[in-house]
Amino acid sequence: METDELKGLRERALAQAAAAESLAALEQVRIAYLGRKGKIPALLKKLGQLPAEERREAGKVLNQLKRELAGLIEKRVGQLSSGEVRDEGRFDYTLPGAWRGLGTRHPVSRVIEEAVGIFRRLGFEVAEGPDVETEYYNFDALNTPEDHPSRDIQDTFYLESGGLLRTHTSPVQVRHMERHRPPVRIVAAGRCYRRDVPDATHSTNFHQIEGLYVNKRVSMSELKSDLAFFARELMGRKVQVRFRPHFFPFTEPSVEVDFSCHACGGKGCRLCKRSGWIEIAGAGMVDPSVLEAVDYDPEEYTGYAFGMGIERIAMIMFGINDIRLFYENDRRFLEQFGW
Ligand code: DAH
Repeated sequence: METDELKGLRERALAQAAAAESLAALEQVRIAYLGRKGKIPALLKKLGQLPAEERREAGKVLNQLKRELAGLIEKRVGQLSSGEVRDEGRFDYTLPGAWRGLGTRHPVSRVIEEAVGIFRRLGFEVAEGPDVETEYYNFDALNTPEDHPSRDIQDTFYLESGGLLRTHTSPVQVRHMERHRPPVRIVAAGRCYRRDVPDATHSTNFHQIEGLYVNKRVSMSELKSDLAFFARELMGRKVQVRFRPHFFPFTEPSVEVDFSCHACGGKGCRLCKRSGWIEIAGAGMVDPSVLEAVDYDPEEYTGYAFGMGIERIAMIMFGINDIRLFYENDRRFLEQFGW
């Protein structure tokens, strides 16, 4: 047996095993070289005919090749079946897929969708307005005078263009009423902006949902029953609603709306700061001057309105203790609200 012949055999065998692109092709290589009738066993059988010196040398080379080739084939089987080597038309569909994580709904979007869904069932339509507002829609048309503290340069983002970033969703009320005659029954959810110093409960950017219902003879009892329906749908059947007198320029009378604490059933716990109640919304009967600003006759029509903070509701529903978590895009936080 020539050394060159064995060298050539070795090179061909290893090259073919390395080039095999499928398990079937690899098996062909194995049969051709290592199988019962393969090239290597055939040569091993012939060793006996060789002179002792040559036999030992050739035997060593052949056995080493046998081990080397078997090892390479084993490695290639591993690669091909784990998908490390993949080729068109030879795709192994039994392999597990490459998982690209699905995104999850942001908790703020979740609460908006849920809240809007509840109000839609009460007959509300969805309205929208711009984030960049004018002083007229954000303040003047809402009966908010020049000297009102929320108009302070410290509290509102004014733009060089003369516009401002809306400080609440209430301007959508005015924009909608300008374009529609009563009855109007709308909700508007979206971003609001205030020049607050960020802390656990304040953010310069947050979300509100606004509601407005104007018709003949709308009463405060309707406001209360609609908000009670909302509270129960959102937080559970046992939740109670209470009104506390308050002041807003655009409603008269005005109230702050509390829900009884869903965590302790109103007995008092850490979430509700031992009071049994959680402040959720501002609301009231639309001030006649707001109706006049949009050419509705306050003698003919009355209405109610409310506005509430989405993050605040999300924090209460999910037990989140810092508003800044909503804006940090930390997946460890966001993934907990899966959907
Ligand atoms: N705009 C108020 C705020 O941001 C919330 C509010 C109070 C909205 C009373 C209303 C309302 O529509 O009637 O604090």
